[in-house]
Amino acid sequence: MESAANQSSKIKPPLQNIVLVGFMGSGKSSIGRELHHNLGYELIDTDQVIEQQSGKTIPEIFEQRGEAVFRNYETELLEHLKDKQTSQHIISTGGGMICSPKNRILLRELGFVVWLQCSSQEILERTSQNKNRPLLQCDDPLHAIKNLLKERSPFYQETAHLEVNTTGLSLDEVSCGILESARYYYGSS
Ligand code: S3P
Repeated sequence: MESAANQSSKIKPPLQNIVLVGFMGSGKSSIGRELHHNLGYELIDTDQVIEQQSGKTIPEIFEQRGEAVFRNYETELLEHLKDKQTSQHIISTGGGMICSPKNRILLRELGFVVWLQCSSQEILERTSQNKNRPLLQCDDPLHAIKNLLKERSPFYQETAHLEVNTTGLSLDEVSCGILESARYYYGSS
């Protein structure tokens, strides 16, 4: 049976955003900045917006209000972007954004969704540099990464119009590939 996210996107979204999804440490922020630089679209980083609006860091939100509240903030933000008819932006999302069915539909309504992929080992190397990801502050982060990846991969796959394995590619190569695919997607009927 076809998923709701797929059904809702038979029609191309009128909103011409490039939406980046993928696991923590998959390069969404760096690729987002590269796309902003190459395309000139403004960059929206959902984690940053949530931190600004709540006046708290993500670890503080998780600790003081709980993960469920953070997830509500994520959905509210996507709804707000859609209500405002935000277009011609790069939207870089938190890695857990795709866990909610409602978010998966909203993400596709917002634009061309790109899943940035990389290996669990690369994720571990990139995320072990800092402590700002509450879900990976545990004794065995590699195990946590593998479990979450297994759980989330079907959701990323279901939501994305394009999957990009970034291993061995430069920021410029990834960005050029995404831009070409997005142009084709929006340009073809
Ligand atoms: C999360 C990913 C983080 C941030 C929060 C939860 C997740 O964003 O939203 O720590 O559940 O995967 P990044 O993917 O930008 O690290």
